Amino acid sequence: MSYETLLYEDRAGVAYVTVNRPQKLNALNQKAVQELTDCFGQIEASSEVGGVILTGAGEKAFVAGADINELAALTPAGARETALGGQALMNEIENLGKPVIAAINGFALGGGCELAMACTLRIASENARFGQPEVKLGIIPGYAGTQRLPRLVGKGRALEMILSGEPISAQEAWRIGLVNQVVALPDLIPTAEKAVQKILANSPIAVRYALEAVNHGVEMAKNDGEQLEANLFGLCCATEDMKEGTRAFLEKRPAQFSGK
Ligand code: COA
Repeated sequence: MSYETLLYEDRAGVAYVTVNRPQKLNALNQKAVQELTDCFGQIEASSEVGGVILTGAGEKAFVAGADINELAALTPAGARETALGGQALMNEIENLGKPVIAAINGFALGGGCELAMACTLRIASENARFGQPEVKLGIIPGYAGTQRLPRLVGKGRALEMILSGEPISAQEAWRIGLVNQVVALPDLIPTAEKAVQKILANSPIAVRYALEAVNHGVEMAKNDGEQLEANLFGLCCATEDMKEGTRAFLEKRPAQFSGK
């Protein structure tokens, strides 16, 4: 896959997607949103790719937000379409059915923080900074930051970040649960690789159903979420992976999952 704003590579079942506009701190212009949407659509359909590492080019930024040059020229109707398009991309990433590890190598502001939050896990380098600075520009987050941030860190801390617009450090992001791990910059990609490999060693079907149970269940009333969980738990028991996983445990050997 070849793109203007992204680098794409797949190695041994892992897709490496890099937002590649370092001279603009990897700000997401419309082209980048379109290309990410296309790229994740292809990853979803691929039987070769089991997981994704998403990062930004250079050592300064993951993604420093939506492209403010484009934002400045938006009409109300265009802005609505832009928000809906960005939200659709975030939903595609969140519900990919495969793990997406955000390797956050610098600024993750505005749309960059929203992009990171749509990922399955977030691993940050020590120099990363997180924020939703939109109110400083006279707008509010538009790629579902007002929805995902309170779900991840609680309403009080989300409101503090969204209303102040002030960034927080990687350590603070870890302390409030916005990121899973903070590591030195040179360790970022190797740590993300370990995280994705740990998940890829498990049954891909079970991983997909677990993602579905958590992502959809968290939006439902508890009883409905439990029904969803029970249904997916039942479906797992129809798979070869379940037979292999339980048999391997009983035979004291590592499981070899086929994803069937
Ligand atoms: N959209 C468009 N361009 C952006 C951008 C964005 N979100 N973020 C950074 N850039 C561009 C800058 O305009 C600059 O371009 P130039 O060299 O052509 O002037 C280049 O990226 C480098 O950024 P610069 O501001 O010079 O780097 P810095 O180290 O001084 O500051 C930031 C880094 C992240 C603090 C600063 O760039 C910033 O505040 N960016 C906007 C963040 C934001 O509000 N995001 C939410 C948008 S909704």
